[in-house]
Amino acid sequence: NLSTETKEMIEQLDQSLMDGRYPIRLRNDEAVFELEQDRVFNDNWVFIGHESEIPEPGDYARRYIGGSDPFIFTRDEDGNVQVLFDSCGHRGTKLCRAEQGNTSHFRCPYHGWTYNNKGELVGVTFKHEAYKEIDPDEWKLPKPAKVDSYAGLVFATMNPDSPSLEEHLGDMKWYIDMNFKFPTNGMEVYGEPYRYVLPVDWKQPCENFGGDDYHISTTHQSAIEGGLISEIWHWDEGPYGGLAERVHTHFEELPEMGHSFAAGMIGEDYSPFYGYDEEIHDCFSAENISQEQYDLARRSVVNIGTIFPNLSFIQVGKGTGSNDSGFLCLRQWQPRAPGETELWSWVLVPKDAPEEQKRKINNVALSSFTPAGNWEQDDLAVWDGITEAAGSTVAKRQGVETSYEMGLGNMSNTEIHDEWPGPGVCYNNHYQEGYGRWFHRRWQEEITKEPLPEGAE
Ligand code: FES
Ligand code: FE
Repeated sequence: NLSTETKEMIEQLDQSLMDGRYPIRLRNDEAVFELEQDRVFNDNWVFIGHESEIPEPGDYARRYIGGSDPFIFTRDEDGNVQVLFDSCGHRGTKLCRAEQGNTSHFRCPYHGWTYNNKGELVGVTFKHEAYKEIDPDEWKLPKPAKVDSYAGLVFATMNPDSPSLEEHLGDMKWYIDMNFKFPTNGMEVYGEPYRYVLPVDWKQPCENFGGDDYHISTTHQSAIEGGLISEIWHWDEGPYGGLAERVHTHFEELPEMGHSFAAGMIGEDYSPFYGYDEEIHDCFSAENISQEQYDLARRSVVNIGTIFPNLSFIQVGKGTGSNDSGFLCLRQWQPRAPGETELWSWVLVPKDAPEEQKRKINNVALSSFTPAGNWEQDDLAVWDGITEAAGSTVAKRQGVETSYEMGLGNMSNTEIHDEWPGPGVCYNNHYQEGYGRWFHRRWQEEITKEPLPEGAE
């Protein structure tokens, strides 16, 4: 049950955020978790997968909405993408027993009912003896209310009243394009997604990947000093200090509210085309994006973003150490339990790159963002401490708050970037926590769109 204290925290969240404060309890609370499953994940567009994961009819992969609702992501015999609830209409067991593969039909392991990859029931075991008059139309696999894709990214929503995907992504598409439409023939997933469970609330990494550059010089200090990751991450010092142009964009209006984007850019000579090897620079062009997007993409050393609710991307340029190519990852933060998230992480490569380049990009990505990666280890080491404090009775009873004041009032030197060609509210440096405040504001919008249940003691 939602406690009275927690209910108040949710109701007052807009005011708290405006004051630069966030009640930490909202990151580890059973009743909040349940509300999120219902109102955030079952009611909004969520990422399912990339089209390139299922290129041929019959290809499939297992996916989850809200972390634990099972779905099959597949391409039917007509070549259309399908998202099917993975539960047999007879007793409800899971039909899909492998992570990925190719099949024209899913046969239930319990009593053998068989479905095609449009979700239609096409076979009932001992039908004439057991189910003579069964109407197969009544027993199709349930599907999300809407499935749609943008730039190869497939999303689904269980809510028939959701706006179109086009509207949900809104102006955030401009930033998605910079990564997914910059390569003339698009990006494709390389290998299978990495998955692992983190002892952290899903909102924490969503926010971190929406623009937390503030942690780089401390959390990742030893990796920078040890030469494992690039010296450019010394934003204000080192050989490139002062040259970096840093921007930070978020959205304050619906439907884009909650999405955010941040980028660091240097002159073209440092890491052009996201630091990919020169031999694949001709994979990229301004054919599907504007000249402004192309110019920014060419100079970007890093760009990251979060698409509400739980999809992030990170495009990192070439650095030192093992990081000798650019790479792009998609990362989905799947809520599994209060204070527990399963990370799904995909590596993407330009479709037209030669195999040996794709392998190299994949290796660099895996040595950066996996549990053993140069970056990820550091992040994991700090996030779990948040969960412990958030789940405490002190956090609930005293309403312990954390600071979100950066960039508010006179707190930092950020200014609105007047000349920024992209959409959203753009600030001219990274010392700005607008991305976090507006992510949580959107969260509040979703959680309170219906009255909250009565608080219990
Ligand atoms: Fe699937 Fe019985 S549970 S056929
Ligand atoms: Fe980090």
